[in-house]
Amino acid sequence: MKRDIEKILFSEEQLEARLNELGQQITKDYQGKELLVIGILKGSNIFTSDLVRKINLPLNMDFMVVSSYGNAASSSGVVRILKDLEQSAEGKHLLIVEDIVDSGLTLNYLKDVLQSRKPASVKICTLLDKPAGRKQSIQIDYCGFEVPDEFIVGYGIDYAEKYRNLPFVGVLKREVYSH
Ligand code: PRP
Ligand code: MN
Ligand code: MG
Repeated sequence: MKRDIEKILFSEEQLEARLNELGQQITKDYQGKELLVIGILKGSNIFTSDLVRKINLPLNMDFMVVSSYGNAASSSGVVRILKDLEQSAEGKHLLIVEDIVDSGLTLNYLKDVLQSRKPASVKICTLLDKPAGRKQSIQIDYCGFEVPDEFIVGYGIDYAEKYRNLPFVGVLKREVYSH
């Protein structure tokens, strides 16, 4: 596991500190609003779980399972919804929680799908933003950190379904994914 990591970008302590800040900001912004936090699985599993515990408001949680990468190292461009919301989005303030925005395809697709369900608002919170990967522009309302154009894993983010359980965010060694 760890021997496949080139370098650590954000340690457990750095992640925790930034999540505290994001949680405080979200707590301020959603005072008195009916908030539905939507975790996009599988990648945002860990980030969503940690983030909601930093939000000091009554809220609902729901999850969608979508996949665009499969086991490939780059996006297929086709977003598949494998599991949809279990509750209605109508009239609610939706906060989509993602682990990373790369090409922007996943979130553009999801935002359109959710917008069509007549919510009160739709905002995006991502732990990581990789601007160099962008193919479609997307407005990010809350962002943890920007990352360089490298293969990122850990804290929920996988390569071929591995490395999600690393407690930090790191860069995968090139030799692991290029052959
Ligand atoms: C990854 C990541 C984001 C998306 C970002 O998910 O978790 O959801 O890709 O890439 P994009 O901006 O280029 O669309 P993936 O499809 O690998 O599924 P996973 O969350 O189950 O790993
Ligand atoms: Mn994902
Ligand atoms: Mg993935």
